[in-house]
Amino acid sequence: MTTPLISPSILSADFARLGEEVRAIDAAGADWIHVDVMDGHFVPNLTIGPAVVKALRGHSAKPFDVHLMVSPVDQWIEQYAAAGADIITVHPEAGPHVHRSVQAIRALGKKAGIALNPATPAKMLDYLIEDIDLVLVMSVNPGFGGQSFITSQLKKIEAVRQMIDKRGLTVLIEVDGGVTAAIAPQCVAAGADVLVAGSATFKGGPERYAANIRALKGE
Ligand code: DX5
Ligand code: ZN
Repeated sequence: MTTPLISPSILSADFARLGEEVRAIDAAGADWIHVDVMDGHFVPNLTIGPAVVKALRGHSAKPFDVHLMVSPVDQWIEQYAAAGADIITVHPEAGPHVHRSVQAIRALGKKAGIALNPATPAKMLDYLIEDIDLVLVMSVNPGFGGQSFITSQLKKIEAVRQMIDKRGLTVLIEVDGGVTAAIAPQCVAAGADVLVAGSATFKGGPERYAANIRALKGE
């Protein structure tokens, strides 16, 4: 089986020591750095502004994988791009015009992702998939770390994989929410390329990060 990339969500990091935490997961083998941006409106939680992303940028050269759970989203895209995001992922429900958001992300020279909530069908991608770089399949409802993986999403990962392969595209599939070392192989078997992991990366403190990331990779 292929080894997935791991994108630890810093939502589960110690916010009092964020820079150190980013350096620690980088050194522990993280492939990307997942930044969960929540606005207290699209989701019932409030997290990381562009100034924080900018401050963290110097702490790792790995891709910053910025997941915007913000509505409306377009007015924020440029600021997160300028702050140092490499991949910017938006939710179709955040509106008002998701294809325009994708165009805006790519016009800034960044990679564009679309996030599908657990109830959002893969079909939503029909007229978007050719124009994006990443599909983020949410395996929890967005808003909080530490929730349980919703197993029905494995079927959606398979459906997205089929869509990508059938059209001969190189779009990556990322799975986000409740990913543990136990569920990771099923995500990869279903077709995932990248696994986000907050709790599963940060549990046990810095001395465990490398082992946690290896376990998620199935090593
Ligand atoms: C949920 C976020 C996820 C989440 C991951 O809204 O998008 O990235 O924080 O955390 P765990 O791995 O703890 O579910
Ligand atoms: Zn996320």
